[in-house]
Amino acid sequence: MPTAIVTGASAGLGRALAAALVSREWTVIGDGRDEAALRRASEEIGFTAVPGDVADPAHRAALADAAGAQLDLLVNNASTLGPSPLPPLVSYPLSDLETVYRVNVFAPLALVQLLLPALSGGVLIDVSSDAAVEAYEGWGGYGSAKAALDHLTAVLGVERPDLAVYAVDPGDMRTAMHQAAFPGEDISDRPLPETSVPAFLRLLDERPPSGRYRAADLLVAA
Ligand SMILES: NC(=O)c1ccc[n+]([C@@H]2O[C@H](COP(=O)([O-])OP(=O)(O)OC[C@H]3O[C@@H](n4cnc5c(N)ncnc54)[C@H](OP(=O)(O)O)[C@@H]3O)[C@@H](O)[C@H]2O)c1
Repeated sequence: MPTAIVTGASAGLGRALAAALVSREWTVIGDGRDEAALRRASEEIGFTAVPGDVADPAHRAALADAAGAQLDLLVNNASTLGPSPLPPLVSYPLSDLETVYRVNVFAPLALVQLLLPALSGGVLIDVSSDAAVEAYEGWGGYGSAKAALDHLTAVLGVERPDLAVYAVDPGDMRTAMHQAAFPGEDISDRPLPETSVPAFLRLLDERPPSGRYRAADLLVAA
């Protein structure tokens, strides 16, 4: 039975991915900071809950302990948007920017460092965003962190040819993070995160070359 760690598995895309993997008989270890919400999701879906914050080294060690010696997939999905409403860069509070980078850039790399060699021969998916490549007003903090994550992912891909290393832009999804990005707006026209999941499964099934992929392209081609 293959084993995956999916960070941020209590809600949104992480929850949907965890559910899809469990239904394919994967053993899934998932995290999230809100322990009650995580335990609810883990009981409903059937994954192992390890509550905590990916930015916390002790929590990352607990994730590694839960995975043990063999890990087939790491999905760095947990992420923070930063302050809502999204502030312009000229007045972006730098302490908030540090938090965004700690969660969205340093924690994913720290997990990779910690989980090798258990992940050797496996798949790494770092969840990216169109904000990593497009210059949207207000998205400079989150977007630049996702751009940094994209580049780390690309370099890991060439440094570790034994791994399949993907940055994936899942597209807009109707989630708590998306609502925080558009406070007070009706986001009911955005697709549910389950819509993006087949793109991720396609990467696992077909294992194309390491690189950056858009879920929309993978879904069209499917
Ligand atoms: N929604 C979109 O339109 C969209 C578009 C492009 C990219 N993305 C990316 O897709 C991924 C999933 O986003 P989403 O929209 O599904 O978000 P979401 O619905 O807000 O869910 C985020 C999940 O991550 C957990 N989480 C957040 N911070 C965490 C931390 N520091 N440590 C551990 N867990 C943490 C949350 O639980 P707790 O809050 O309890 O910790 C929750 O389980 C993210 O990487 C996001 O950047 C989203």
